[in-house]
Amino acid sequence: MKTSYSKKVSILLTKYAAKVQELKKEFLLELNDKGFPFSNYIGGNIGNYKKIISKLPIFDTIVVIGIGGSALGTKMIYNCFKKIFKKRIIIVDTTEPERLAEVIENIDIKKTIFIPISKSGSTMETAANTLFFIGKAKETLKDNWKDHFVFITDQKKGDLRRFVEENRLFNLSLPEELGGRYSVLSNVGLFPLYLGGFPIDELISGAKEYLNDVKQGTLTEPFEIGFANYKLYKRRHNILILFPYVYRLKTYGEWFIQLWSESLGKINKEGRKIGQTPMIAVGPTDQHSIIQLFTDGPQDKVIFFLNVRDRNVNFTISEKLNYSSFGYLYNKDFGNIVNIEFEGTQENLNNLGVPTLELELKELSPENLGRLIMFSYILTVYSSHLLDIDPFDQPGVEGGKRIMYRRLGKRGY
Ligand code: PA5
Repeated sequence: MKTSYSKKVSILLTKYAAKVQELKKEFLLELNDKGFPFSNYIGGNIGNYKKIISKLPIFDTIVVIGIGGSALGTKMIYNCFKKIFKKRIIIVDTTEPERLAEVIENIDIKKTIFIPISKSGSTMETAANTLFFIGKAKETLKDNWKDHFVFITDQKKGDLRRFVEENRLFNLSLPEELGGRYSVLSNVGLFPLYLGGFPIDELISGAKEYLNDVKQGTLTEPFEIGFANYKLYKRRHNILILFPYVYRLKTYGEWFIQLWSESLGKINKEGRKIGQTPMIAVGPTDQHSIIQLFTDGPQDKVIFFLNVRDRNVNFTISEKLNYSSFGYLYNKDFGNIVNIEFEGTQENLNNLGVPTLELELKELSPENLGRLIMFSYILTVYSSHLLDIDPFDQPGVEGGKRIMYRRLGKRGY
């Protein structure tokens, strides 16, 4: 991956070059010594997957039932690479009845595998949807419903684990230490992806390679980007705009928003509520939308561009129309058009003094997405070190849950 920074960011990084190196060393000591859950648990067990798959009926659709970290990773990867999947994946991460109706109307239950995923085994949305689809499967498949379900949950704890053990259902587990938003490179993401025909080995090898390079100290980008962004946040740049010029990375944005928000939006040791708000904009589409706010609105944002060098598709405009709005487009290549649109946006923002960061991938391949995922994990956890907060908990989401459980009549609330 290649980085580039606006003048403002480059000046900042030059000024603090020694500090960036020192903080990087500190972080690497911890990473190399005991590691973090996301670096200690990468990869699933393909042998196990094959065993389970050999017992499943013929299917054309996979329904993943989960929410937050148990769904967003699979959604991101499926949306990036839909074309190479052999089976259709549908993610059910809402309790809206309209969405459930849409799913039911669009699947043939006899040809569907359902994968309920919940680390805690008690998340209400996942529990409700799991019960709903078990009910529907029983209506169609009678006692054979069990053959159509593979559960993924904590290896020891929770009611879902109890349910799968008591009913001897197909299941996979995940380690206690691995929180939902850090789990896409474990069974949580890998099993549904593998079942769908996705080359998970390429994704894993990209992530592992990136992690190793960081561990060896040869890669500095997460530390430079993390430090520059931290300094800007301290200077009231409270919003981080993720701005891919790659349409397929739109759902990467959704995944990143969860990772960044739940990991970094916290009450710090002094009791202050802190965190930088992440948002997604997609180029070139949003050049005709939110960009106005980036140029002329409050100067409280850091713009983080993501781009690819090779788009692997060449389309040239062969139609010629000699009007001034069309003529200059003759013979132009679309990859080139997008890049010029990107450069125009970037240069304009830089001229206006808006701080920008850029990460360029050679191409959007499964391997490179693995790298980007690992980069995102390291960037997030490194940022939490700079902010001195715990990136692995999310106490703030509990309050609303307690009220909801009480109103729904759950025992103990
Ligand atoms: O990142 C997290 O830990 C959360 O977003 C969880 O993934 C989400 O709340 C779902 O939890 P569970 O997998 O326990 O159902």
